[in-house]
Amino acid sequence: MKPILDVLQGRKPSRRPLWMMRQAGRYLPEYRALREKAGSFLQLCYNPEYACEVTLQPLWRYDFDAAILFSDILVVPHAMGLHLEFREGEGPVLDVVSDLPSVQKLELGLEGEYYKKVWETVSRVKSALKTHQTLIGFCGGPWTVASYMIEGASSKRQNALAVALENPEWFKVLMEKLIASSIGYLLGQIKAGAEVVQIFDSWAGDVPLSARQRVVVEPIAAVVAGVRTVYPDFPVIVFARGVGQGHREIALLTGASAVGVEENVDAGEVFRSLPGHVALQGNLSSDFLLGSEDEMLLAVERILSSVPPHRHIFNLGHGIQQQTDPVMVTKFVAAVRKGDA
Ligand code: CP3
Repeated sequence: MKPILDVLQGRKPSRRPLWMMRQAGRYLPEYRALREKAGSFLQLCYNPEYACEVTLQPLWRYDFDAAILFSDILVVPHAMGLHLEFREGEGPVLDVVSDLPSVQKLELGLEGEYYKKVWETVSRVKSALKTHQTLIGFCGGPWTVASYMIEGASSKRQNALAVALENPEWFKVLMEKLIASSIGYLLGQIKAGAEVVQIFDSWAGDVPLSARQRVVVEPIAAVVAGVRTVYPDFPVIVFARGVGQGHREIALLTGASAVGVEENVDAGEVFRSLPGHVALQGNLSSDFLLGSEDEMLLAVERILSSVPPHRHIFNLGHGIQQQTDPVMVTKFVAAVRKGDA
């Protein structure tokens, strides 16, 4: 009935499932209109009525197999007590943590208003979905979220990497708090109706191999384990972006039901490396939605023939880009749907 749940739970889906990361976003005129009405991106995130509507917008247009909760990974540090703003053309600006006292001041945020608003969005979306559509909740990977909390902005990771590699006491406490808050946040989403959760560790690939297990993998594994203490076997997609041939290890060590695979690796090669029960999500480059239709069709075809439909969730390798023409997305969806027919 739900192709995404079927793939994640090892059943044969009625068709190869499909959704797009950042499917609700600025490439859609209806998104831009509602964001304007809300006043800002964050006001949109914390308005359950509007956030529900933008979550559903791409499903109304394209009939995707998943709704992904409309929110942001930086809601977690915001709920933990750091001031957050999204400046036009600049991206996020966040208060920084830089020592033990600043980390000790952080709360878990589980009783606050921010998480509550997101949970309310989840329950609204859930009641609006069609029977084949799966509701995906999410949080950021502890490493990626910590890197924003240490840097305060999105453009660089040097400070955060230096701290992570030096591994002072306050970094450990920060990661523990982030893990605890993320688990509580995800449990709230699941209680409100999320059927799958995805962990977005977008900067996983920046961490040197020698430190990857400690900085990236074990914290994700702790979040997955925390969720499954309450909901055993809960389906989890782990998107550790940029680890290339490391996805097998990510799958084995985190307990992921599926791994998200970035665009610059061969999907077939990664697929063959995965344990038999783990599915692959991805990995069309979002650049193909900006170029010629013929090239896009060839790239879709290549992925379709590299990964079997019962072990694959078709997606992009990263979020859809703002300049994308919504008509190109219609063509992309048709190509994926026709591909296995
Ligand atoms: O996938 C979805 O449609 C769900 C919603 C979602 C958003 N952000 C909405 C958003 C999700 C899952 C995210 C995750 C996220 N946010 C990540 C991890 C995935 C990735 O893309 O690497 C990261 C690193 C962030 C942090 C973030 N949020 C940045 C750096 C920015 C600014 C850059 C940009 O694209 O403007 C955002 C803003 C953001 N998050 C937008 C959306 C739709 C654009 C905001 C706007 O309307 O101006």
